[in-house]
Amino acid sequence: MNAVANPQPDIELNAPDWVRHEGLKAWVAEIAALTQPDRIEWCDGSEEEYDRLSELMVQAGTLRRLNPEKRPNSYLAWSDPSDVARVEDRTFVCSAKREDAGPTNNWVDPAEMRQTLNGLFAGSMRGRTLYVVPFSMGPLGSPIAHIGIELTDSPYVVTNMRLMTRMGRKVYDVLGTNGEFVPCIHSVGAPLQPGQADVAWPCNSTKYIVHYPETREIWSFGSGYGGNALLGKKCLALRIASKMGRDQGWLAEHMLILGVTSPDGQKRHVAAAFPSACGKTNFAMLIPPAALPGWKITTIGDDIAWIKPGADGRLYAINPEAGYFGVAPGTNDKTNRNCMDTLRENVIFTNVALTDDGDVWWEGMGPEPAHCIDWQGNDWTPGCGRKAAHPNARFTVSAQQNPAIDPEWDNPAGVPIDAFLFGGRRSTTVPLVTEARNWLEGVYMAATLGSETTAAAMGAQGVVRRDPFAMLPFCGYNMSEYFSHWLELGRQLEANGARLPRIYCVNWFQTDDNGKFIWPGFGDNMRVLKWMLERIEGQAGGVDNVFGVTPNFDDLAWDGLDFPREQFERITRIDVQAWRDELGLHEELFIKLEHGLPAELRDVKQALEQRLQN
Ligand code: OXD
Ligand code: MN
Repeated sequence: MNAVANPQPDIELNAPDWVRHEGLKAWVAEIAALTQPDRIEWCDGSEEEYDRLSELMVQAGTLRRLNPEKRPNSYLAWSDPSDVARVEDRTFVCSAKREDAGPTNNWVDPAEMRQTLNGLFAGSMRGRTLYVVPFSMGPLGSPIAHIGIELTDSPYVVTNMRLMTRMGRKVYDVLGTNGEFVPCIHSVGAPLQPGQADVAWPCNSTKYIVHYPETREIWSFGSGYGGNALLGKKCLALRIASKMGRDQGWLAEHMLILGVTSPDGQKRHVAAAFPSACGKTNFAMLIPPAALPGWKITTIGDDIAWIKPGADGRLYAINPEAGYFGVAPGTNDKTNRNCMDTLRENVIFTNVALTDDGDVWWEGMGPEPAHCIDWQGNDWTPGCGRKAAHPNARFTVSAQQNPAIDPEWDNPAGVPIDAFLFGGRRSTTVPLVTEARNWLEGVYMAATLGSETTAAAMGAQGVVRRDPFAMLPFCGYNMSEYFSHWLELGRQLEANGARLPRIYCVNWFQTDDNGKFIWPGFGDNMRVLKWMLERIEGQAGGVDNVFGVTPNFDDLAWDGLDFPREQFERITRIDVQAWRDELGLHEELFIKLEHGLPAELRDVKQALEQRLQN
């Protein structure tokens, strides 16, 4: 942590008597001395606090209260147009050695980074309140959970953290007088001079999202948005936790977790990794087609899974989060009715449009309003040529409002995983679904996952990039070592006689010659899921291809869907030339990750090449 040469005695620590952790208090005093806030507020997570801070933000113009008749107890925030997504090029993993961060992470020597950040954070909270936000990732007190304390000068972060995590005073009961926590320091980087008026969305054009994996610290400067600022999510639950998992023998993954119950009442659990904004929330809340009666999907998590071997040798997963920070555009009653029901009340919307009756609207939500105010505060009418909502507009909502929440979602022991799915957004090449023939082949599929980029991160969109395990922006250590960790875990489970989860590669996103999606997706993904589960039971057929095992047309249930056989052939075939090119891209990735790349992955690639040749 930071040593500050010249602590200022004039900032009252104001620690309440329910905070009994002297180390924590000393750290808060240290950061306050560095950042120089006007005052310190120790958050208790109460409703009173949430309402008070929300009102404060309404007064400041950060939030707008939505029409309580339409959207009770809900707010709308519009961010600064420069602060709308995660900033991957400003995200750093500052391990002591560069090779421990690996070639996929930005790295700066930690000593140098500390100096830079000390400069930026010095006085960065002037004129603001420093909020002390205690939170637990995972059920409070669970042996799988970890505690974080976020110090932030953003009340928007406080209220979002209350929805996204188990946040509040009860965390201190678990922390006691000397419990461990991950220190998370966040400043929007917009100090106020005495008398200076604030803006609605303070931020700084200089941004740093910094992780020190060895000391497990997070420092975030300059952004108030999403994963840049809600430090429990990507920073703690993925980047820092993936490193903890590497050291301690478990996995922190960018995965949704769902329960599937079959008509005969058997329940299975699936964890699925997709890159950002590829429909994880929709998949986690899927409503099976009426023509497949008796199937039921329940949500455990929509974005992150912490997965540990249980005493019986199987893998158990928990959702470390307690809420959803989902992409709004494209969400509607058809794509995700459960989500729309979740969003009826108690929501914070960010960067969606405001309708004339005080409600929200976004592209793909339903009929276009004749007029609304867009996310930048301008009049919007249909055909005006601008988006009303930013493509990465979000909702923040408690998981407990999800009508499809799984009864076990909060179980500290987690749920046993039967299958892993890996999926990218690929308009060509990658078949609808492929089953890996073994763990190694599955790890290869996941390691070489490619996806077209989306608005969830700043930068170009629609470009195919390799996104191993959908973890490219989230792995807190060397990616090759991460592959080894997966392989090692598989070997360990196998040695203990456990049945390993099956691994599948999916792609819902192939398009036709007019750029239209061929596979209907959404609820119809149940048909694919059903095939997978039947494979696990040894009840469904499939055909061996170059890449793995694919279903035959007749292996999927087509009740209630008129999906032409030729279209099915089109989205499940292996195009030899496309796969030659694809393997060339795998090779590029492997060259990039050469240092420490497990040799077995090259062997799998060679076998694929051989099969392609034949
Ligand atoms: C997210 C993301 O917000 O992956 O979940 O960007
Ligand atoms: Mn995500």
